[in-house]
Amino acid sequence: CGIVGYVGGQQAAPLLLEGLSRLEHRGYDSAGVAVLAGAGIKVAKRAGRVRDLGESVPKRFSGKLGIGHTRWATHGPANDVNAHPHSDAKGDVAVVHNGIIDNAATLRKRLADDGVDLVSDTDTEVLAHLIARSGADTLEGKVADALSVIDGTYGIAVMHADFPDRLVVARNGSPLIIGVGEKEMHVASDLAALVRYTTTVAHLDDGELATLTATGFTTYRADLTATDKAAAPIDVDPASYDAGEHDSFMYKEMLEQPAAAERVLRGRLDERFGTAHLGGLNMDPRETRAIRRVKILGCGSAYYVGQMGAALVEELARIPADAEAASEFRYRDPVIEPDTLYVAVSQSGETLDTLLAVQEIRRKGGRVVGLVNVVGSAIARACDGGIYLHAGPEVAVASTKALTNMFLGFALLSLQLGRVRDLSIADGNRLIAGLARIPEQIAEILQREEELAEVARRLAGSESLFFIGRVRGFPVAREGAQKFKEISYRHAEAYQTSELKHGPLALISEGVPTVAIVPDDELTSRNVGALHEIAARRGPLVVVTHEGVDLGDVDAMRIDVPRNERELDPILLTVPLQVLAYHAALHLGHDIDKPRNLAKSVTVE
Ligand code: G6P
Repeated sequence: CGIVGYVGGQQAAPLLLEGLSRLEHRGYDSAGVAVLAGAGIKVAKRAGRVRDLGESVPKRFSGKLGIGHTRWATHGPANDVNAHPHSDAKGDVAVVHNGIIDNAATLRKRLADDGVDLVSDTDTEVLAHLIARSGADTLEGKVADALSVIDGTYGIAVMHADFPDRLVVARNGSPLIIGVGEKEMHVASDLAALVRYTTTVAHLDDGELATLTATGFTTYRADLTATDKAAAPIDVDPASYDAGEHDSFMYKEMLEQPAAAERVLRGRLDERFGTAHLGGLNMDPRETRAIRRVKILGCGSAYYVGQMGAALVEELARIPADAEAASEFRYRDPVIEPDTLYVAVSQSGETLDTLLAVQEIRRKGGRVVGLVNVVGSAIARACDGGIYLHAGPEVAVASTKALTNMFLGFALLSLQLGRVRDLSIADGNRLIAGLARIPEQIAEILQREEELAEVARRLAGSESLFFIGRVRGFPVAREGAQKFKEISYRHAEAYQTSELKHGPLALISEGVPTVAIVPDDELTSRNVGALHEIAARRGPLVVVTHEGVDLGDVDAMRIDVPRNERELDPILLTVPLQVLAYHAALHLGHDIDKPRNLAKSVTVE
């Protein structure tokens, strides 16, 4: 979900709507704004997109203070009533909220028993009633009162008709950033909504509240003692938050991959010692050598790239490594080992499942480092150290450039872990030379877009597809299937090529194509054998492979990717799968950047 707020000399509604459109990738099933106009608060909210909301906000929705929200439904379906902002019965208070109130059911019941009429199914509505019912005589006091009975996570922005000069905001687990303008203040859950207005910002910490007026802001804790946070300028290019001439952010971000890849490698490769320099890990060589296992945690695409990363660590450093969905890890009461290096992978640095896994590890004394894109994000801050990905802002739900940089981050980590063990300087330099070639090789693949688009259009016609690969190729297949299903809504299932004959081969037919990952490696002939088994069942085939690989007489649409070192193959095999997913979705006429039911950052469990 996304939050915006404004107080200053301009009309709030257009600014709030513009800000919301910049946050829409974070949740887009409903949206709303509230402004303080003359005598009271006016609210406009509805299911649907921000542009639908824009149409239903009356022209004379005037007011120079307001809040807005774009929602990814958790409690209750996406309808007009459940959209934020939420209000109390009299309409004195308006609240927008990201996160989840864990004890909402208890609080709702208590309020209902007291005669309060709750109109929505949301957890957020209780906040509005609690604030309205507080006996405190300041808005700050009322909000602190309400928060004192809440368990859960939140980023909130609150306005009150009796306090028309201010917004009160609070953070616990869900980001909020204050933007300082010229005689005006902004607040948002993401920089994307602020950078057009100001690049002087202050990030709230968990447990912190702030009051914003047109002339300034103050920060304090729940007991109202000051924390005196100051705003500081940040170095961002507002243009990097625009799609520019491109039809979608996903397309733009795919094309940015060569440049992004250069950034994650820059200054980190050391040819003298055939290793990588990763100062941010905060580990000396002795600590690095003491690591006996590596455990990688992430969600969605970050989890699949984590599997690619685990293979890199095992191959280059010969340390046992595996990846697990962070969303599962925390719930199975994991054994945390002191000589295991835990690695949390996340583009946003906000995914709650991953953040909670990090907290669980640290609570039990484990060491965890982050591979994170967003600087200063919650996961980055919760880790003992890390590698920033420097991919730049990623807006499309389907991750491309951040994912590529995650893979390269793992390659750097593996080099460093390997070079304090058995990896030779020559092997280290072999990898370094391979890494240096990656950006131009990605560009080469992207140049073959037309050819890939043709394959994509053929795949888009099928309701169901398989993506298969083995060992290094299996996480590639998983990520390829993930991307395809996320944006084309086709059923795309990943399988180990070796396991196909143990079950799913039953599904192979003329109408079920298979995208097979067949790199030139130790397993090529076995992989080609499986292609024959599929072809014999008349299953259409797309084969992502290397030039010169002999596929025998199987009839397949072939996609050759450039050769690199075998260990680095997975990322080059992944890039054409992004293009396939993109063009399939484009052909089907889907909203590429905002696939149905999903959101870019899932900040709830
Ligand atoms: C959401 C998105 C996925 C993404 C995952 C992890 O579920 O829909 O596309 O891979 O979150 O996001 P993160 O920001 O932690 O990398």
